[in-house]
Amino acid sequence: MQNRDKFTTSLGVLTATLGSAVSLGNIWKFPYFTGQYGGAAFIVIYLICVVLAGIPVMVSEFVIGRRANSNPVGAFKKLAPGTAWYAIGYSGIAASFLIMLFYTSVAGWVYSYIFRALSGTFINASPEMTIGVFGKLITSNYEPIIWQIIVLIVVSSIIIAGVQKGIERMTKTLMPLLFVLLLLCDIRALTLPGAQMGVEFLFKPDFTKITREVIIIALGLAFFKLSVGMGTMVTYGSYFDKNQNLPGTAVKVALSDILVSMMAGLAIFPAVFAFGFEPDAGPGLLFITIPMVFSKMPLGNILLTIFFLLTAIAATTAMMSLLEVPVAYLVEEKGYSRTKATLTSAATIAILGSTASLSADAGSLLGSIKIFGKTFFDLYDYISSNILMPVGGLFTVIFIVWVLGKANLAAELSNDGQLNNKGVINLFYLIVKYMTPLLIIIIFLNSIGVLKI
Ligand code: PFF
Repeated sequence: MQNRDKFTTSLGVLTATLGSAVSLGNIWKFPYFTGQYGGAAFIVIYLICVVLAGIPVMVSEFVIGRRANSNPVGAFKKLAPGTAWYAIGYSGIAASFLIMLFYTSVAGWVYSYIFRALSGTFINASPEMTIGVFGKLITSNYEPIIWQIIVLIVVSSIIIAGVQKGIERMTKTLMPLLFVLLLLCDIRALTLPGAQMGVEFLFKPDFTKITREVIIIALGLAFFKLSVGMGTMVTYGSYFDKNQNLPGTAVKVALSDILVSMMAGLAIFPAVFAFGFEPDAGPGLLFITIPMVFSKMPLGNILLTIFFLLTAIAATTAMMSLLEVPVAYLVEEKGYSRTKATLTSAATIAILGSTASLSADAGSLLGSIKIFGKTFFDLYDYISSNILMPVGGLFTVIFIVWVLGKANLAAELSNDGQLNNKGVINLFYLIVKYMTPLLIIIIFLNSIGVLKI
């Protein structure tokens, strides 16, 4: 058995978990999904999914990880020996791989924007020009792949060097800084002429855009955002100590995560309307509107550089938690050294991930290849967020209720009676026993057309 590293402080636990959750999803995915799927109407459904599925699954994963003190596959093997429950662990490893395939590609764009901003590309830029810069990057045959490999080298080096100290130290100081810069973006965006329309767009619900597909996308986003349903939080939970308040941590992470998403929305949509972009412009919103927001500001260039630097750091801390899933598995279950486990995983991601980099846009080299009507890039995203993570989450809560049982759960959530939180435990039990499974099953059956609500 390996000598397992642990997070050393409560704050470290919180920031590392936040570092996994708060990331590209907030600044890149959340705003463009909101833009495409009906603004506030989408947000309402998303919030329901966070409360009834995202948070409960996160707590459940913490419980499993901390109790078993093991990677996702090993954890289920330890807690339910001789059964097939460990399949949830494998599904998590598959999901983390799939996410890494496209996530490293987007992170690569972010890394490249640090240098573009630094070199003054966006000083006094016009909307056409910022659109052009982004289009050129993502349709290039080699640039996104090079950046993707650089990203993987950075993430692998940190993981090899020993995660816990790295993750803890980095996230503790840098997450607050990202928050402050986002606030600055908000102020700038909200004072642009025409900002009002963006705020309305974000807060005025348009329920006509809500289709079955959109509801499964909201559920998928809740899982993706909170990094749950795929073993990350089992792995991180295994690094928590016995005094950590599990439900408290999950609620704090979820609230902060929503706050950052809203702040990103408030930075992007007022600017979208002010500059005459389309709110449903898709994944490019971050790379087109944010440079515009800063372009005419005094010191805008420096602030933009810092903004992308911090976004790159946020993406990097999330990728560490993603890579940590297969690495912990290979080390603990297969006896690999940490270095070998990391390099094998990273090399596989680099090779397969190039298909995501080359299919991010209709004009990309592989952009016209469609599998089940989706490009490689979209397919990896869809299978992980909308299938593997919700199904993983469903089985995780079923496991908590029917295999681990209420007594063990109560012991874990109260830290063996240290915390006086009976009410919280009862409420949590009620949610994971009935509401979470019901919500996931209904949304699922609906999305495949078996049920029609
Ligand atoms: N939560 C991250 C985001 O919103 O960008 C994405 C993510 C990271 C998903 C880590 C899953 C994970 F394990």
